[in-house]
Amino acid sequence: MEITIRPRRLRTDPVRRALVRETRINKSALILPLFIREGKGIQEDIPSLEGQKRYSPDLLPYALETVIKAGIKNILLFGIPLTKDGVGSGAYAENGVVQQAVRAAKKNFPEISVITDVCLCEYTDHGHCGLLKGDTVDNDATLPLLAQTALSHVEAGADIVAPSDMMDGRVNVIRQVLDRAGFTDKAIMSYAVKYASAFYGPFREAAGSAPAFGDRKSYQMDYHNGREAVKEAGLDIAEGADILMVKPALSYLDVVSDLKARFHLPLAAYSVSGEYAMIKAAARAGLIDEAAMVCETAASVFRAGADILITYYALEIAQFIDEGRIG
Ligand code: PBG
Repeated sequence: MEITIRPRRLRTDPVRRALVRETRINKSALILPLFIREGKGIQEDIPSLEGQKRYSPDLLPYALETVIKAGIKNILLFGIPLTKDGVGSGAYAENGVVQQAVRAAKKNFPEISVITDVCLCEYTDHGHCGLLKGDTVDNDATLPLLAQTALSHVEAGADIVAPSDMMDGRVNVIRQVLDRAGFTDKAIMSYAVKYASAFYGPFREAAGSAPAFGDRKSYQMDYHNGREAVKEAGLDIAEGADILMVKPALSYLDVVSDLKARFHLPLAAYSVSGEYAMIKAAARAGLIDEAAMVCETAASVFRAGADILITYYALEIAQFIDEGRIG
């Protein structure tokens, strides 16, 4: 038998393999999440996320020097307030922890794009993402507080707000409140498709945001559902979202791929804390090659159709791009 078509022909050497790559990875498509703890002089390790740190707003600029040097231009901020209450006031306080951090970041590095997570769970004493009415989260009563949170972030200088609460209608109210205040150029990256996931465990340790009772299944999505993701994404587009996000990433690449085919908005995927922690733990146990795993998983997210990757490994991936290991 004569073989005329030989796929191996395109795999002969690194230069040829790089020539025919279908997926290109660029640092400009990476977003690094950062945890900001209220206070001064704080720079502490996060036990559940080996290699990640919590910074207080005053020390954030030092962390950002490394980020900028690595060529990462987008950060996503999460706040850990000193005090919490039933209505999550710290989330929308003019001088709240994220608002302070945004100001510090923009003052020192105006060129960096600051994205803020908009949610109440880190700020409520019950740890839920909205106001409680009895034992349930009150959707409509929560909306004005989310809008107020987003507004306070952009007033502090945030470029993009990222609502992660999963209340119905929140993109709409946030867009209206931002526009009315004249912030028509501030973008909304919506956690349009956010599953109720066990992959958030290490994050909740890091941010102290685990719900005090129950779970988030009455507002975050059921992982058995794929078509529902299309419904959620369509709603957020209609409400004015500029960028869609799927979260987590690795177990939901079918959803990423489906949304990419159906919609034309930029699509982000969030490789969440549990994905990071699994790789770290397996590497620490000597079971896998960490760098190889980071490259392969990151490439798979882009190959599935993501335009943007949010990852705790952003600095490492930037280095792997420089070294030609990936991209
Ligand atoms: C806030 C929020 C969470 C994450 C991002 N925003 C936690 C949650 O929904 O419980 C998780 C991110 C991660 O695990 O890396 N609602």
